[in-house]
Amino acid sequence: LKTVLAPKVWGAWHLHELTKDLSLDLFVLYSSAAALLGSPGQGSHVAANSFLDGLAHYRHRLGLPALSINWGPWSEVGSAATAVIHRQMRSRGVGAISPDQGKRALSQLLLTNRSPQIGVVPIQWSQFQQQGIGRDPFFANFNQTGHRAAFEKKADWQAQIKQLPQRQRIGFLTQALQTEVAKVLGLAGNQKPELTTSFFDMGMDSLMAVELKNQLDAHLGTPVAATVIFEFPTIRTLAAHLVEMVCAADPPPADGLAPDLHGEPPPANPDPPPDVSSEIEQELAALETLLERS
Ligand SMILES: NC(=O)c1ccc[n+]([C@@H]2O[C@H](COP(=O)([O-])OP(=O)(O)OC[C@H]3O[C@@H](n4cnc5c(N)ncnc54)[C@H](OP(=O)(O)O)[C@@H]3O)[C@@H](O)[C@H]2O)c1
Repeated sequence: LKTVLAPKVWGAWHLHELTKDLSLDLFVLYSSAAALLGSPGQGSHVAANSFLDGLAHYRHRLGLPALSINWGPWSEVGSAATAVIHRQMRSRGVGAISPDQGKRALSQLLLTNRSPQIGVVPIQWSQFQQQGIGRDPFFANFNQTGHRAAFEKKADWQAQIKQLPQRQRIGFLTQALQTEVAKVLGLAGNQKPELTTSFFDMGMDSLMAVELKNQLDAHLGTPVAATVIFEFPTIRTLAAHLVEMVCAADPPPADGLAPDLHGEPPPANPDPPPDVSSEIEQELAALETLLERS
């Protein structure tokens, strides 16, 4: 936490202290969109940038020049110019800023802006508002109609699962999960993820796991446990778990048969979840490393 906070917090504060009596034209802080939108696994980065935003507002109240820019990820240059980051951001509806666009936005802000804090983030609102923080009421005014329609369209797995005969439910969810996991992993259109290979063996990292969990929340219209991807780390075990979770709210009638079974024998039990404790430990260690690095 200290490693991440210190350069931004002390650096900006020292500049403020040392220049507050000078007649400056500009005092520009490079904050991050992470402080506006959140960033899974990067709490300390978010805190450091929120300090910059707070400092800009503080200076503004003192009548000093101040502008904190919450930049979205830049392409081609800088610390966020990696394919993995851009893929993750894209899957949340956040695009990248090209150096040309960034320079133009900066010039415009320096020339015309009077507000102490501005976010410069290319956002695909209809996609962004379908998941995670995008559903927060704070963002509701950005594209209210699109948000409602998109969310309602996404959150339909529950209804579809419940309408299906019990024997078809796991098959339906298995296919749906294959599509979502492929998107999160950034697989090519014709590539399908394996049903029994661990997500982490397929290249999923902790941030992608958070992204997948967010997608499940949106599709199911209800939050799933934060650890669900670690506890059920294959498509097959996850599908079985989610069907059980969704259908637990609708217990079968007293004769023990679900109404849609039509007298058919109950389906075979899904594969039991594997021993995942070591995978959970590994992922927790990876999360700690990420937190330390960020
Ligand atoms: N790139 C983006 O997409 C993006 C998006 C949002 C916000 N931002 C913000 O914009 C700023 C610049 O980002 P960038 O991508 O250009 O970063 P960068 O390429 O990683 O450059 C960071 C600069 O900060 C210096 N630095 C790093 N750690 C330091 C420390 N502990 N003490 C003193 N100096 C340190 C580095 O010095 P050395 O070269 O000597 O290591 C380097 O000059 C950052 O504040 C970042 O949070 C960037």
